Amino acid sequence: AAVEHTFNVGNLSISQLCQPARIITAVNGQLPGPTIEACEGDTVVVHLVNESPYNMTIHWHGIFQRGTPWADGPAMVTQCPVKPGATYTYRFNATDQEGTLWWHAHISLLRATVYGALVLRPRGGAGAYPFPKPHGEETVLLGEWWNANVHDLDDMAFLTGNPPRNADAYTINGKSGDFYNCSNANETYRFQVRRNETYLLRIINAALNTPMFFKVANHSFTVVGADAAYTTPYETDVVVVAPGQTVDALMVAGAAVGRYYMAASPYDSAIPVGPPFSMSTATAIVEYAGSAAEAPPQLPSRPEYNDTDTAFRFLSNLTALVLPGKPTVPLSVDTRMFVTVGLGNSDCLPKQLLCNTTGTRMPIFSASMNNASFVLPESVSMLQAHYANASAGVYTRDFPDRPPVIFDYTADASDNATLKYTPKSTKVKTLRYNETVEMVLQNTRLIAKESHPMHLHGFNFFVLAQGFGNYNEAAAKPQFNLVNPQERNTVAVPTGGWAVIRFLANNPGMWFMHCHFDAHLDLGLAMVFEVQDGPTAETSVPPPPLDLPQC
Ligand code: C2O
Repeated sequence: AAVEHTFNVGNLSISQLCQPARIITAVNGQLPGPTIEACEGDTVVVHLVNESPYNMTIHWHGIFQRGTPWADGPAMVTQCPVKPGATYTYRFNATDQEGTLWWHAHISLLRATVYGALVLRPRGGAGAYPFPKPHGEETVLLGEWWNANVHDLDDMAFLTGNPPRNADAYTINGKSGDFYNCSNANETYRFQVRRNETYLLRIINAALNTPMFFKVANHSFTVVGADAAYTTPYETDVVVVAPGQTVDALMVAGAAVGRYYMAASPYDSAIPVGPPFSMSTATAIVEYAGSAAEAPPQLPSRPEYNDTDTAFRFLSNLTALVLPGKPTVPLSVDTRMFVTVGLGNSDCLPKQLLCNTTGTRMPIFSASMNNASFVLPESVSMLQAHYANASAGVYTRDFPDRPPVIFDYTADASDNATLKYTPKSTKVKTLRYNETVEMVLQNTRLIAKESHPMHLHGFNFFVLAQGFGNYNEAAAKPQFNLVNPQERNTVAVPTGGWAVIRFLANNPGMWFMHCHFDAHLDLGLAMVFEVQDGPTAETSVPPPPLDLPQC
């Protein structure tokens, strides 16, 4: 079957946080944008009509795009942007994928307001889940809101080399809730339930820069999926979801008839003391049928801002639900990579203010993988260059398998000149078709230690192990889960620690891998896998669609 949508991206006037109405960029006049619902195996067709004043692309986060690499969406990686007034049709299959994914703009900071859910049910519908059919389903999109034009924030960040300021509010389904010194019933999302019924919550972290804790007062969850891969049922009263990740959780409305807050609050390991509850917690209301509207809602307790134990427990305890016919972890490895992810400094780019005003090459704040700080090409997308065999001047094939120096990644090594200096480049790692890759992702704390959510386009990977400190292969190997490791498209590398992932490079194309904190992506915390064609036409990059935008 085919599921077809038209996305008109344009201006929406909206008032949030009791501020005067503001113009934002949104799809079909909605925040969050429309939900796409499809079944495994369906073809999804989305006509993007860009009526906004900005260049636009849409990424289908977590969709493999096998055979459709031109539909992946990251600007300048797989396509040139869709210019104002122009259109582009994204066409892809939801083959071998079930669960919750999402879509978002993949250019500038525009995904702050251009995002929505992508729900993939089994072919047999909700009755075919590998868990009892829930009575209802609800998408819970966590986001961030700025009292500002996010496109301008992005330009300013680029010009100054400083990351954009923190959001003014967190949101649940676009609304910040009751605790932002601004009580306005229109700014609280309400979720109606019936007592003793079971609901499937599809929780998506669409925030730009913030991992979130998610709780519902007096209720607990059974996690059954993450990143559109089923998990062994996991009981918890708190869900942890990093930007880019999704969690599918069953919740029984088993409390007394009444009203209860759901709350989303930030996890930030870098900050010892966070802002107060009232300034940093998005809330929505779970409302039982038959409850009195004026009854005071119950609040959940909130994990501390820097509660790494809770984050790690949730993120490391999930395991895959092993089902017949599903891919299993590759047991042999062709290519091993050890990749540092973290912050640093680099040269300014010619267009940046520091370069212009001083006339000298001042170091600016930056981010990198293996000391390579990624910049996007400007004249042609990387996939177009790859397809045309014309990488010269667009990218180089020398992304290193190891960092330039081995050091204590957990120490503040900001005095180490080599490490803190990360040259700007556009490097790819080239893989043969069907090669298996193991990648150790090692966080550094050159400037600050953080839990970077590393997202890979085009694939799911298996998370074999994760831990704190410097990666030690001899100690880590016996802990590898080769039986039922969780399958993800985004791994939150533990703060001051490491994660080991494996994937099978069975998808030819150019696939972005990057930190899903938008601030870090802009600073260069990214690289690209170039996966070569396989032996047949079906396993090769097809010709570009006729309407592919040109730069
Ligand atoms: Cu959800 Cu490259 O991103």
